[in-house]
Amino acid sequence: MKQNNNTSCLQFTRPIIIAVLTLMFIVIVLCTCQVEAKSSHMSKHHGHKHQYASAPAPHYGDLPAESSMFNVLSFGAKGDGVSNDSKAFSAAWKAACQVPSATLVIPQGLKFLVKPISFKGPCMPNLVLQIDGIVQAPPKVGSWKKSSLFQWLNFKWVQNFTVQGTGTVDGQGSEWWSLSQMLPYNVQSTSKHVLGMKPTALRFYSSCNVSVRGISIVNSPLCHLKFDNSRGIKISNIAISSPKDSPNTDGIHLQNSQHVEIEHSNIGCGDDCISVQTGCSDVYIHHINCGPGHGISLGGLGKDKSVACVSNIIVDNLSLESTLYGVRIKTWQGGLGSVKNVSFSNVQVSNVKVPMMIDQYYCDKKFCKNQTGGIAISRVKFNQFVGTYAAQPLHIACSQDVPCTNVDLVDIQLKPLPGLGGSREALCYNSYGKAVAPLVPASIDDCLRSDGGSRIARSHDVVCQ
Ligand SMILES: *[C@@H]1O[C@H](CO)[C@@H](O)[C@H](O)[C@H]1NC(C)=O
Ligand SMILES: *[C@@H]1O[C@H](CO)[C@@H](O)[C@H](O)[C@H]1NC(C)=O
Ligand SMILES: *[C@@H]1O[C@H](CO)[C@@H](O)[C@H](O)[C@H]1NC(C)=O
Ligand SMILES: *[C@@H]1O[C@H](CO)[C@@H](O)[C@H](O)[C@H]1NC(C)=O
Ligand SMILES: *[C@@H]1O[C@H](CO)[C@@H](O)[C@H](O)[C@H]1NC(C)=O
Ligand SMILES: *[C@@H]1O[C@H](CO)[C@@H](O)[C@H](O)[C@H]1NC(C)=O
Repeated sequence: MKQNNNTSCLQFTRPIIIAVLTLMFIVIVLCTCQVEAKSSHMSKHHGHKHQYASAPAPHYGDLPAESSMFNVLSFGAKGDGVSNDSKAFSAAWKAACQVPSATLVIPQGLKFLVKPISFKGPCMPNLVLQIDGIVQAPPKVGSWKKSSLFQWLNFKWVQNFTVQGTGTVDGQGSEWWSLSQMLPYNVQSTSKHVLGMKPTALRFYSSCNVSVRGISIVNSPLCHLKFDNSRGIKISNIAISSPKDSPNTDGIHLQNSQHVEIEHSNIGCGDDCISVQTGCSDVYIHHINCGPGHGISLGGLGKDKSVACVSNIIVDNLSLESTLYGVRIKTWQGGLGSVKNVSFSNVQVSNVKVPMMIDQYYCDKKFCKNQTGGIAISRVKFNQFVGTYAAQPLHIACSQDVPCTNVDLVDIQLKPLPGLGGSREALCYNSYGKAVAPLVPASIDDCLRSDGGSRIARSHDVVCQ
């Protein structure tokens, strides 16, 4: 099976839409060449040595003309935290979507209660959603319709689009968390019908060149920010926060998405701070604070013998505090495909249970059936890890059938938490690679096997070409 690299924005290829877009494009080029010139100059200035596509640079400073500002209050939103402002949000989106370089404003100092809502593109380019106020989801589980449970705020088919501001998106997830922990007992039938599924707060689907910056996303019932089938994503200076014990509340979740940069953000939640799933490549994650949470994860991949392909992932300059794991690759037994070319570097851990992990026996319940075969993991580098661990410094358990190859451990200096007696030693199983000093604790030094194994990994790679 091949990974589809063109999944995002495919929906635009229908001939009629192309014709319409071409027309729009001509109009836009005529109207906004000044803005375009400025943004291309700025993006050159921000040029990074990795060629990650990113959305156009912000136009801080030059305030958009009145005619391109669309304030939700002008569309009937109340902002009192009680009224249903969904209709006003939809209407404001519709209007802003039709104007090039428009800004849809959610003003500061007000609370907007909105029901599940879909913001569909394609829109005129360079649309900005300026969130300065608070946007709140309905707090009562029973008030969600069964059909709307995939997500709360859904962006679909948008391109060259920016979400920015100083405001907060609040998923009001507490009732979802407590009810799902009570299942299957003690739940009123009105709520039971929806609890099999919980909504993601912000989801982007089939979108290109999207930038999310500045905002806070809190207390999602499930994942906080999710991208599917998208490319050219830049997430910067955001804050994500939900309690340590809120179930399945991933911070950022990426799936089938390429050319992604996530930077300078603070993430604390009840599950993975960042989760990278199948179909992702060219992902650059840097300057992230994570905690509480389960760390940065690739996977779980290959569940039910499925194919997973993940490649070219860089995680650099990461600080983890009181998390369950630091960085982790998790795959189910029996999966097909590969994870390759992954680098984790400059990682500071503090009270992290297991800072470095590859787990090819991932299982989310007590027992999982043993399966033959597994996803091939190769070219994974752990470089410059410092700090304290609370259980085990390193745990690399590779598939019995498909060993991990070219796993490098370079400059690892980890200490057990003070007072932690009898912590476990580093563990490596069926993993080949090299270790470069300094390596502390000493059990990391002779953990990896030093040669062989690569032939097997290569034969598994074919499904991801
Ligand atoms: C809120 O408004 C939206 C859009 O008009 C509508 O679909 C929804 O049913 C309303 N919900 C409630 C509880 O009034
Ligand atoms: C999106 O922005 C980029 C960079 O400014 C530009 O090259 C591209 O043509 C834009 N796409 C659309 C559909 O406007
Ligand atoms: C996305 O941005 C890149 C680089 O700025 C540009 O080349 C490309 O045309 C954009 N794609 C779309 C669909 O706008
Ligand atoms: C590994 O990934 C990095 C970062 O995405 C990329 O620059 C590099 O070209 C990749 N190496 C190979 C051999 O694909
Ligand atoms: C991350 O980068 C910042 C500044 O860029 C630096 O002060 C800090 O020490 C770095 N952290 C790690 C763990 O490398
Ligand atoms: C799976 O295999 C391992 C190692 O061979 C064995 O210890 C374990 O009991 C098996 N688990 C199941 C559920 O069969």
